[in-house]
Amino acid sequence: MRIGVLTSGGDCPGLNAAIRAVVRRAERLGVEVVGFEDAWRGVMAHEWQELSVDSCRGILPRGGTILGTGRVTPYQTPDGLDIVRGVVEHLGIDGFVVIGGNGSLSCASQLVADGINCVGIPKTIDNDVEGTEFAIGFDTAVSIVSEAIDRLHTTAEAHDRVLVVEVMGRSVGHIAVRAGIAGGAAAILLPETPFDLADVAAVVEHRRRSGRIASLVVVAEGATPVEGTVEIPAYEVDQFGHRRLGGIASLVAPELERLTGIECRVTILGHVQRGGTPTAFDRILASRFGVAATDAAVAGDWGTMTALQADSIVRVPLTAVAGRAKPVDPELISVASQFSSLGSVPPPAND
Ligand code: F6P
Repeated sequence: MRIGVLTSGGDCPGLNAAIRAVVRRAERLGVEVVGFEDAWRGVMAHEWQELSVDSCRGILPRGGTILGTGRVTPYQTPDGLDIVRGVVEHLGIDGFVVIGGNGSLSCASQLVADGINCVGIPKTIDNDVEGTEFAIGFDTAVSIVSEAIDRLHTTAEAHDRVLVVEVMGRSVGHIAVRAGIAGGAAAILLPETPFDLADVAAVVEHRRRSGRIASLVVVAEGATPVEGTVEIPAYEVDQFGHRRLGGIASLVAPELERLTGIECRVTILGHVQRGGTPTAFDRILASRFGVAATDAAVAGDWGTMTALQADSIVRVPLTAVAGRAKPVDPELISVASQFSSLGSVPPPAND
């Protein structure tokens, strides 16, 4: 048996750990593994390499992906599907392990419907893949953000400033809500709970009256203001139809400064959240997913995705994942609201 592996979509820490796990499990089972460069672009361009335990040595703790990644799909080329079928035939591949986020897993689901065997492994710092409690990369991103917030607290206090920290996550606030709780943010602005800066200013004022001028405000890149408050210019859309988010903190900070009279500065964490070494949690998750996906391929259980549910690895159908974005658990939002303003809820009385 021979399987292809590719990493698709935005990168994140833990991709190499997943590749390594696929290769190691496959080698034990006598299955060959072919790695494709830059996801489906490499498949269509015949850019591939045989992967082995030896060629994957030392990659477990490394960020990025040894295979490269990309967002091109076979559906963007008129004869893309036929090209993929030709490569499958030519290389004698039984199917692909697709390590990807929402877009890549939706594409894999469509490919299965079109007769190309795929199993999925969820990865994304956004953690918005349906069917799994965690995707590879999310834990690392939350750790990076919460460490950044810890650092920002000390400089904010030294200068009596409000620091507005922008985090990634697309249209969901998984990173923001968790890092905001972990970092003790005064306010967390999420896509799920439209914010009014007048309410955030009230929290900052309240803190000032009790002697704490410095405040940390976490804003998710996809946060939404209450209609008629801050005007957000339309975001550019990239060639794959995704809104190119980023920069909302630069709209929030000046308005907050105007409302409070306290100096407000901006930190946009950006791709720092996707870089560097994965946490132990992500390495373990990636290893579990890699083994499970290889087993699914060997069992011929195509059209499934490995998922974490109640700390067990299970397989869920790709069709149940495709085209959805997992929302933030309301319980987490409720917990966050005990400690932080969500920009529309009154601050806790004892804050
Ligand atoms: O989906 C992961 C993610 O990092 C999002 O949080 C962010 O909006 C987007 O990718 C940025 O993508 P790019 O790689 O195009 O900058």
